[in-house]
Amino acid sequence: MPTMYQTMSDEELTHALSELEALADKIRARKLSLDMARGKPSPEQVDLSRPMLSVLDADADLFDEGVDCSNYGCFEGIPSARRMGAHLLGCPADQVLALGSSSLLIEHDMLAMFWRKGSLGAMPWSEYAVANDGVRVKALCPSPGYDRHFAISADLGMENIVVPMGAEGPDMDEVEHLVASDASMKAIWCVPKYSNPVGITYSNDVVHRLATMKTAAPDFKILWDNAYCVHDLADAGDELANIFEVARSAGTEDRIVAFASTSKITFPGAGIAFIGASPAGIHEFAHYMQAGLISADKLNQLRHTRFLPDAEAMRAHMQRHAELLRPRFAAVERVLSEGLRGTNCARWTRPHGGYFVSLDGVPGSAKRIVELCATLGVRLTPAGATFPGGLDPQDTNIRIAPSYPTLEELHEALEVLVVAIKLVSAQIVLEERS
Ligand SMILES: Cc1ncc(COP(=O)(O)O)c(C=O)c1O
Repeated sequence: MPTMYQTMSDEELTHALSELEALADKIRARKLSLDMARGKPSPEQVDLSRPMLSVLDADADLFDEGVDCSNYGCFEGIPSARRMGAHLLGCPADQVLALGSSSLLIEHDMLAMFWRKGSLGAMPWSEYAVANDGVRVKALCPSPGYDRHFAISADLGMENIVVPMGAEGPDMDEVEHLVASDASMKAIWCVPKYSNPVGITYSNDVVHRLATMKTAAPDFKILWDNAYCVHDLADAGDELANIFEVARSAGTEDRIVAFASTSKITFPGAGIAFIGASPAGIHEFAHYMQAGLISADKLNQLRHTRFLPDAEAMRAHMQRHAELLRPRFAAVERVLSEGLRGTNCARWTRPHGGYFVSLDGVPGSAKRIVELCATLGVRLTPAGATFPGGLDPQDTNIRIAPSYPTLEELHEALEVLVVAIKLVSAQIVLEERS
């Protein structure tokens, strides 16, 4: 489908462009300073968890089911926190470690273990290239995806391989093809529910194929970052199949390594982070981690589990988050659909949860739109960030993070984005014609 600007005569196009440039000048004169760059909860969302800060005081009982949270010990996390992790990750509590405050750090540590030590008897990934004529270990990166995941595998020296992301998850024909015959394909990054940034939830078929696919690497790992597992916008959220159950019956549980945290449940960077894996996998990782950690912050774990003692409390708390997030996602949909109606200059996702909307402009437009927005006072995630190495081959994808700004700021920022999308799309047509 051609864009509205492609169907215009030269004269109409010049006129439309000068109107859009005048609009951009007016916006520039307002010296806005708005930020839609990172998926941070808003201050009102963070405030929902303030009562948790009063849960423990000087007179509080600091024992959790016999574990003294005020002292060293219980490396694996307190019992109630491991149960919380089990609820989030979908595996038994004795296959969960409740650790520090960042799941991303655990992801980095886990991959560092594979890199330095290998896992379950397999060769360390760092030695693979030496033993295989310099062939590097690879991580599959469904894209658009989460930039910080791709940064972790790149940081360790792995080669990131792009796999297209579809409406049901990664392109499984491509994934199966890549991993079946090439033992250097060692891992795939997954955000299976309300994926960052496209917002889709993996279908049952995708979960099943991931858990059961044939892999040439015996130590292949599915890095299952379930960061948005309870982050539904509506009461009836998307259903994600339980990958542990599928893998257990297929005999592939050792390939699953799952992560979650309370960063977008309570306080970002000050919550609990969890890892879940097969019994053998969790035992090995605990052993690796214990070289550098006696125990995590158990008082913080206790605070969290007293504040959110069960699944029902968690659900009620997340509904309050959803009440604050829903109007923001509705604003994205409203402003974009009204502002871009009939232009064919962009398409975007309508997620049922999570923190992001993913927008695709016309080829070659994303970098220019993000740069233009910056000059108009609106900061967006850098274009390309959703692809490994920052290289979006079509230069179309822009991640919109609507959670942090106030509704008023969000409206303003989205209106600026609409003008930038139209202006860049029109400029591209003019350049193609001249
Ligand atoms: C998919 C995903 N994983 C992990 C994180 C970071 O989590 P944490 O604060 O637990 O490190 C984010 C934050 O945006 C995320 O989107």
